[in-house]
Amino acid sequence: MTIAWREAMNTGDPTIDADHRHLVDLINAFEAALAGGGAIEHKRIARVLLGLVEYTGEHFKREEDIQLAVRYPYHDSHRRSHRDVLKKLSTIVGDYTRTPDGPERDRMVRDLGAFLKEWLVDHIIQSDLRMKPYIQQMQQQKVLADKRRREAVAASERMAAEKALAEKLAAEKV
Ligand SMILES: [Fe+2]
Repeated sequence: MTIAWREAMNTGDPTIDADHRHLVDLINAFEAALAGGGAIEHKRIARVLLGLVEYTGEHFKREEDIQLAVRYPYHDSHRRSHRDVLKKLSTIVGDYTRTPDGPERDRMVRDLGAFLKEWLVDHIIQSDLRMKPYIQQMQQQKVLADKRRREAVAASERMAAEKALAEKLAAEKV
């Protein structure tokens, strides 16, 4: 079954959310390659899976950097779970790509589909959504800091204008 993106899956960080959407697309592409009822197209599936492993590694790195930026307190354990998932995913995909065509390979690929969905749902829904309040807090702090900066600039411009006016008036009196 195709996974549909829902608003509730957004963490609020545009980079993480775009990555997650792309992961959903890749898993849906994997499903589409499996569907159809005919012989399983292992070549196409292997390509999608290798792309998925690569992209997952890149996504984890981006996500970990964002966690540090928003001072996410569970960064270390999240990072460990990323390593575990990536290792497991690479092992399963590696085993699959090395297995010759046949019933064993067909069975492996179906198990893999179940693992991918379970992992994705667990990764996004259970784990990544915990970052949401920290992402929001950081975004609010940024908005506030920008507002303060703009106010400070406006205040110094006002003071400079007042000073210039005072100097002009003083010069006219002389
Ligand atoms: Fe993620």
